[in-house]
Amino acid sequence: MSRLTEKRIILGVTGGIAAYKACDLTRQLIRAGACVRVVMTRAATSFVAPLTFQALSGNQVHLDLLDTEEESAMGHIRLARWADLILVAPATADFMARLRAGSAGELLDAVCLAAEVPVALAPAMNRAMWYNPATQENAAILAERRVHLLGPDKGMQACGESGFGRMMEPIELCQALEAIFTEKTLAGCSVLVSAGPTRESLDPVRYLTNRSSGKMGYALAQAAINAGAKVTLVSGPVLLEPPKEAIVVKVETAADMFNSVIGLASGHDIYIGTAAVADYTPAQVEEGKIKKHDEALTILLNRTRDILSAVAGLPSRPFTVGFAAETGHLEAHAKEKLESKGLDMIAANWVGQPEGGFDRDENALWVCWPGGEKYLPMASKQNIAIQLIELISENYSAQKNTT
Ligand SMILES: Cc1cc2nc3c(=O)[nH]c(=O)nc-3n(C[C@H](O)[C@H](O)[C@H](O)COP(=O)(O)O)c2cc1C
Repeated sequence: MSRLTEKRIILGVTGGIAAYKACDLTRQLIRAGACVRVVMTRAATSFVAPLTFQALSGNQVHLDLLDTEEESAMGHIRLARWADLILVAPATADFMARLRAGSAGELLDAVCLAAEVPVALAPAMNRAMWYNPATQENAAILAERRVHLLGPDKGMQACGESGFGRMMEPIELCQALEAIFTEKTLAGCSVLVSAGPTRESLDPVRYLTNRSSGKMGYALAQAAINAGAKVTLVSGPVLLEPPKEAIVVKVETAADMFNSVIGLASGHDIYIGTAAVADYTPAQVEEGKIKKHDEALTILLNRTRDILSAVAGLPSRPFTVGFAAETGHLEAHAKEKLESKGLDMIAANWVGQPEGGFDRDENALWVCWPGGEKYLPMASKQNIAIQLIELISENYSAQKNTT
């Protein structure tokens, strides 16, 4: 289940070249479980045919303010009342000017004017149009009126120029809507997340690492941001784009990870340690590449320092959540780790199974804390992250209220 499940969303499409991306956006919203009704401006229909949106949304497309059949039942007001949220993507410069002015000449304009639900815009235009003081002023005034401005992004534009003005990608827009629908249970909180694997060098070309992709930690960072937290992400080497709103600290070795996390932990309210930190590191890093010989090679490994215990042992410690990856006796091992390391919560996942765990898009967790436990069944890591952040917020607030 996503935050968009069963949400009623009006997707307003205006006449910009990025209207074609609104087709994919419609599909992604539907895939996330939303019910989508598309309202197009006259100009938008010159870019994409309404039939495309009708087929993708499974609903009739709304086009005309003066449609006598629809308006006999006050169609524009009914549409505004039906929706949980209105997203205009792409939003042209002209549409933004009209929304600012309170214009109601187009069906989409009238629906936005009559709306009492959140309105979000994904501006898309040439960079000079975006930077024009008129557009900047319109954007600032709309933001003041609590219209959610999503983007624009920077990059190559259809006109061949490069700069700010590109519409945010559909996947990012879906994430932004999820954030709008998320209760801000962590508002005012700072959360430190460590994610990904570490790399322990053997020589200048080789290292020891593990199968962690960082997906669970990055999903948790995003879910915490959506819940209103300020997030710092200490990340080992991964191939993921971090959430835009996170402060990112990149590290490589277990020792780097230790130093960064310990240096930051006391300044945060909550620490979530999802990183798969190496337990052992080579006793010696060879200066030159280790040469191949006929006989077997023995490498001495030293223990690395335990980050979770060190955070939990800080004099001014954050609410500390650990992760355990186990191949057997999951619950017993996780409980033992919770107690021996003095954690506030632990989330345990099975690794080495056909589903879930390292480098997969889905996961299942068994979460436990002093006096409670909960099983989060197999779902996407984004979804598991939302549920885990809810559990963490509840336990963190309960602990704060008793101290
Ligand atoms: C080929 C073409 C591409 C356009 N692309 C954009 C665009 O990306 N952003 C924008 O603000 N306006 C763009 N325009 C201008 C709008 O289509 C024009 O301002 C129109 O009146 C907007 O109407 P609407 O906001 O009711 O959809 C484009 C126009 C043309 C002819």
